[in-house]
Amino acid sequence: MTAPLPSACLRGAAQVLRPPRDGLPYVRHDHAGELSLDGGDVVLAGGRIAGFERDATADVQVDATGCAVLPGFVDCHTHLPFAGWRAEEYERKVTGVPYAEIAAAGGGIAASARALAETGDEAVLAQSQVLATEMLAHGTTAFEGKTGYGLSHAGEARSARLGRALAARVGRPMALTGLFAHAVPPGTTADAWMDEAEALARECDVDALDIFVESVAFKNDHLARMGMIARATGRPLRAHIEQFAPHRSVPVALDWGARSVDHLSCLHPYDIAPLAAAECAAVLLPGAELLGREATAPGRELADAGAIAVLATDLNPGTSPVVSMPLVIGLAVRRYRWTVREALLAATLNAAWVLGWSAELGSLEAGKRADVVLLDGPAEHVPYRFGHNPVAAVFAGGALAHVRPDQAWRVERR
Ligand code: NIG
Ligand code: FE
Repeated sequence: MTAPLPSACLRGAAQVLRPPRDGLPYVRHDHAGELSLDGGDVVLAGGRIAGFERDATADVQVDATGCAVLPGFVDCHTHLPFAGWRAEEYERKVTGVPYAEIAAAGGGIAASARALAETGDEAVLAQSQVLATEMLAHGTTAFEGKTGYGLSHAGEARSARLGRALAARVGRPMALTGLFAHAVPPGTTADAWMDEAEALARECDVDALDIFVESVAFKNDHLARMGMIARATGRPLRAHIEQFAPHRSVPVALDWGARSVDHLSCLHPYDIAPLAAAECAAVLLPGAELLGREATAPGRELADAGAIAVLATDLNPGTSPVVSMPLVIGLAVRRYRWTVREALLAATLNAAWVLGWSAELGSLEAGKRADVVLLDGPAEHVPYRFGHNPVAAVFAGGALAHVRPDQAWRVERR
């Protein structure tokens, strides 16, 4: 028998982020201003959010004076699990070596595929678990990972098994996406590889399917085929599109009912209105945009048009070795000209919807999973104090999972 979870009361917060009303699966970004940040208390019991009335009898009392209380961040686009890093490549990239030259020298996705193949399961899981712990310390209580560095049938199947093993080790909600069409493996063609991708989709235990559409990877025809595979296997379709150049992939993704389209740095202006009107999230990845010197996605325009806008780290060893949602929020506010509420909505409820979890987590509502972040100051400081980790404490599933040492005085266990 495990001991029951202690109850907790976060008392006297300066701000508590709440949705406009309970039960919303997502909030379109033209309504982000309706999220409230009024002061108050938050009570957790039995792993759930119990309510918003002070409970002086709760086992754990948290002094939240001067602080914001938020739902845990949901990082709905990472490439965990992966092996190693590519720091040398980053230096070459920033000093002007073209991607084609880096790739020709064995860099890029192929380098991470080699690293994954050469690293044993235990070491891959250990590196990824360390990153998941670092994410937790930055307020991320639920996340997604992908395959995609397997680059062979056996490698992708292993990557899917490793993804599930990572989820079991982490013990927090982790969704797994089969990015079975990430790069065209050597010795095959994109057309031929799609047959393998279909076989992988049928045999692997994954929650969603994904594809990278780009001149160096797959084309819109392959995206349509992945849409067909997703429909046939009952998985949501996601897609890496419009990252380095516009390929007009959005209409294809929408035709196939995609759950999300991700990157969108080079989104064609004609595609903003249809995307914003669709029940398809626009997942923006400003970390990759900054570090890859990509174009800036039209975040302001998408928000004004009423898109279901979302932020994520894109954590991966190539384009975005970034674990911190607060940093991503800081970039988004500056680059997309978003309000703090817009960025927080994109990092919580709307991100949970991408993973199919918004009835369970992603906002502070009675009955939802008690994934709760206490900041060391007001929410406006998250983008403003750029680079500072504002996370004072994190409750994951109702358990106090992280407390920053200088903030430990706030927590009293009775
Ligand atoms: O999301 N765009 C494709 N895939 C990754 C990067 C992969 C890599 O460079 O390792 C991304 O940016
Ligand atoms: Fe990605």
